[in-house]
Amino acid sequence: MISRRKFLQGVSAATLAGSFAHPLPTWPADDTSLTIPGKEELIVRSYRFLDLETPVEYFNSWLTPSNHFFVRNHMHEPSTLDPAEWKLSIGGEVDRPYTLTLAELSKIEKHSVVNTLECAGNGRAYHSPKVPGVQWQKGAVGTARFSGPRLRAVLERAGVKPTGKHVMFRGLDEVPGKVPPFIRSIPIEKATDADTLVATHMNNAVLAKHHGFPARALVSGWIGAASCKWLTEIKVLEREFEGNFMSPGYRMPNQPAKPGETVKPEDTHPVTGLNVKSLISSPSDSAILNSRTLNIQGVAWAGEADIVRVEVSADGGASWQDAQLAADRARYAWRLWNFKWKAPNSGDFVIAARATDSQGRTQPSAPVWNPSGYLNNSIDQVRIHVA
Ligand code: MTE
Repeated sequence: MISRRKFLQGVSAATLAGSFAHPLPTWPADDTSLTIPGKEELIVRSYRFLDLETPVEYFNSWLTPSNHFFVRNHMHEPSTLDPAEWKLSIGGEVDRPYTLTLAELSKIEKHSVVNTLECAGNGRAYHSPKVPGVQWQKGAVGTARFSGPRLRAVLERAGVKPTGKHVMFRGLDEVPGKVPPFIRSIPIEKATDADTLVATHMNNAVLAKHHGFPARALVSGWIGAASCKWLTEIKVLEREFEGNFMSPGYRMPNQPAKPGETVKPEDTHPVTGLNVKSLISSPSDSAILNSRTLNIQGVAWAGEADIVRVEVSADGGASWQDAQLAADRARYAWRLWNFKWKAPNSGDFVIAARATDSQGRTQPSAPVWNPSGYLNNSIDQVRIHVA
């Protein structure tokens, strides 16, 4: 009998990226022996449904290559999808509802945005007490160049009525049993922003299946959940879409909540833009180093704001010094940073990084607990031993 590993290895990455002839099988989450073709180096957080985390050591380039880019699925990916048959419908509060084929979509002028995409649940594993959900550590984040028509160009063809205040996206996910479908909406102001896309390309290649082939929404600077994959329907609504993934999903308490406390829906707000945050990509946590001279490196991002400063501490947060920000930058993209440091002696050290953004936000020293474990941006730290 063919093993699961062999079977998966037999399904080439190219097959998975292009046609949908071979749906990815799903296996129990406790089987950690498998790797996913094309994503071999990622950490499998769940097979059902596929959730893959990037090891933080890979955050050493401005653009994250697609094979290192995290994957977050709430349900099964579409098992069959023929690009020749695919259609995108645009309707709701518009004057002229219409549908687009992929060929028609590709004729609309393309725009590119380098965007840091982060899952709202990134860092959830560090909440105490634990909260339910995928236990992401640091790597449910990545940066890519997304390209495709502006969503506003697609909407303009339909003519949005003055009553149109929100824009809803529906994906082609296969919804198992009674699970509510992954449908969410964004306000019309964000939908018509020049940097909100119907993206067909990622890092100059056609979107891979895991990232929403043939088209996904790209809502720059916002939590990943806003950027619906495998788009099939865009609908203009009078009010925010009502559904599980808008409420209670992806909402934060207006006031800090205590574990065990019940927060009323009216005391919550939707999670939209990303927080200010930085990660240390090198050295790795628990590294044993033979040299006292170190190049401490990492990334820092702030959603719709700009990173203005990254500070590094080599004494567990007692004193801080400015790191150097690398030249590569774009409005919604992370900055690489580095800090050259000489250990004063051999021994154990706690290295920490703290980012500040153009809105004056800075990272807290501990996670801000909330019932769903969203937007954890507490200061990152690694423990190292200099031999
Ligand atoms: N779109 C659909 N249709 N279904 C999903 O499960 N997951 C969302 C978003 N878009 C999701 C989706 C979430 S929670 C995140 S963080 C991003 O996709 C992840 O994008 P990626 O898998 O391309 O990294």
